[in-house]
Amino acid sequence: MSDDLATLEFWARPPEERLRVFARLRARDRPAFFAEQRIPFVRAGRGFYALVRHEDVVHASRNAKVFSSEPAATSPEPPPWVSLLFGRPMVNMDDPRHARLRRIVSRAFTPRRLEQIDEHIAKTATEIVDDVLRGGSGDFVADVAARLPIKVICAMMGVPEHSHAMVAASVDAMTEYSGVRGDVARLRTLRLFGGNLRAIVDLHRLVARLGRERREAPGDDLISALVTADVDGERLSVRELGAFFDLLLVAGNETTRNAIAHGLKLFTDHPDQRAILLADLDRRVGGAIEEIVRYASPIIQFRRTLTRDYEMNGHTYRKGDKVVLFYLSANRDEDVFAEPDRFDITRQPNPHVGFGGPGPHVCLGSHLARRELAAMFRELFTRIPGIRAAGEPELLLSNFDNGIKRLPYRT
Ligand code: HEM
Repeated sequence: MSDDLATLEFWARPPEERLRVFARLRARDRPAFFAEQRIPFVRAGRGFYALVRHEDVVHASRNAKVFSSEPAATSPEPPPWVSLLFGRPMVNMDDPRHARLRRIVSRAFTPRRLEQIDEHIAKTATEIVDDVLRGGSGDFVADVAARLPIKVICAMMGVPEHSHAMVAASVDAMTEYSGVRGDVARLRTLRLFGGNLRAIVDLHRLVARLGRERREAPGDDLISALVTADVDGERLSVRELGAFFDLLLVAGNETTRNAIAHGLKLFTDHPDQRAILLADLDRRVGGAIEEIVRYASPIIQFRRTLTRDYEMNGHTYRKGDKVVLFYLSANRDEDVFAEPDRFDITRQPNPHVGFGGPGPHVCLGSHLARRELAAMFRELFTRIPGIRAAGEPELLLSNFDNGIKRLPYRT
């Protein structure tokens, strides 16, 4: 059985087995190196060092001058032609350009600004639970988890209601195969020429049209902020606008959806924790959300490239080396979390890195995600306190999204 993090076989293993491999990697005194295959159309890489300890993930996130997000922070790195065609998202850039782009949208994600959309989030969560009570499809992902995040991010961006379904379908097509090198990367490249490429083109057409409209008549939405922004004395090009749109949609959607689905499964498997939550929902919901994000780690990893030779934890990395920051391993680090494999919503403190380590790229949408998760679980557990998973989740095969494709449930 493969312990090789760069293979598809490893990511197909059951989650508990993978976590045991990460525990062994944390116990080593040297970081493990994993060679990557050369794949047509995908940027060739020698391989990567796995950063599996909390301390190392935090250190690399903080030191962005040494641990660069360029040329790309995702694995596998997209081929150069993807950036040429569709633009480069800020997640794959370093400061100062990254900081300038992030500033355009960051105001919309501050807790104070988010208060203004709380009502929309709560109303959408209510409608979702109304539909569940009327009788749903039996799949929690389709009926609940997938619905709230896409509605909220579309509303923030100013995508009209009638385009939400098309946007949701395109985002799903874009993220269908997320980030496993080897067979899946090959498959993904092929898909890119089929459904995925089409999905990106459709989305970029929509954003180009909305961008033209908002330039004429700006509103209070993110697309207006992007089309009227001044970056280094210039406006964003249509390509850059498209890349921003993709990033916000993909980052704001899949992650929160998976956290909601993992949450239901966790509260099914841990009735004691459900009892604690239900006994005082208002007081406990915040801790519950942090623990879901720690325990499930909806984003498994991001990558960095060394800009110079650098020593960390007794190992010398060379300029150009790749390191992968495994958040799911850092979040189970026994040096930081007591009984790390225990799901405990009262855990205090809970310095997880589920939203990324501290540094310039820490999740822009973390406050938004927390509000969405809190609203969804408050609504679900107030109105359907007995709601539970009715079987095992069907997991997405990925080394990037800890995704749940389907989850049977009953009310
Ligand atoms: C539970 C939900 C979420 C999780 C687990 C999550 C996780 C992460 C992580 C780990 C990063 C770090 C990337 C890096 O260091 O390279 C990140 C960045 C980011 N996230 Fe989230 N995220 C979530 C929800 C959201 C939401 C709702 C949005 C809304 C748009 C969002 C937007 C972003 C953006 C734009 C970045 C890139 C920031 C930058 O490069 O400056 N995320 N997220």
